[in-house]
Amino acid sequence: MDSFELNKIAGALLGTLLFVMGLGMLGDVIFAPHKPVVAGYDLPAAEDAPKAGAAQAAAAPAVPLPQLLAKADAKKGEAQAKACAACHSFDKGGANKIGPALYGIVDRAKAAAPGFGYSAASKEAAAKGGKWDFASLDAFINNPKGYLPGTSMGYAGLKDAEKRADLLAYLRTLSDNPAPLPQ
Ligand code: HEC
Repeated sequence: MDSFELNKIAGALLGTLLFVMGLGMLGDVIFAPHKPVVAGYDLPAAEDAPKAGAAQAAAAPAVPLPQLLAKADAKKGEAQAKACAACHSFDKGGANKIGPALYGIVDRAKAAAPGFGYSAASKEAAAKGGKWDFASLDAFINNPKGYLPGTSMGYAGLKDAEKRADLLAYLRTLSDNPAPLPQ
């Protein structure tokens, strides 16, 4: 082996060494480790917070219906009733539509609109007796299918208790002799 060949070998080794070092430096640049700004783990507290809030809201005591009715606004209720008017008439002597005529509904016997084809569920409830007082109307309008499973009333329900009270105040006016407000 002459010195020229040794030089070639040494050159090749040196070149390889430089190349490997270069790769290492490049790797550091590309794959620089991301250090967390704050050391430690994220605690799941942030996720739990809204749940706790919701539980609190659910646990908050609901205002009793008589209290809501005492400050209810029949005018606002008349506006709410537009959602019912597609299926119900509200005027005296009004006709049955998709749903039974509702004039005088407060304190009226259940399923008692003449000539209306009530569902079996409605007829069963009526057979047990009972009338539509404020409390039962409130429960029915809140969740028709929950209060009366099998009802043919295709309405999802009005969930806001204050708006329901306004609506009940309006329904109460649909009478020659409005029912007394519950105490
Ligand atoms: C998509 C049509 C539809 C809408 C909207 C609707 N209803 Fe009804 N409603 C019906 C039908 C149908 C019945 C009969 C239910 C049965 O026989 O099970 C009914 C029954 C009722 C009854 C019982 C009447 C009785 O004589 O026993 C009340 C009270 C009532 N609806 C109130 C309301 C109010 C208040 C609203 C608006 C917030 C409303 N409904 C919206 C279709 C509707």
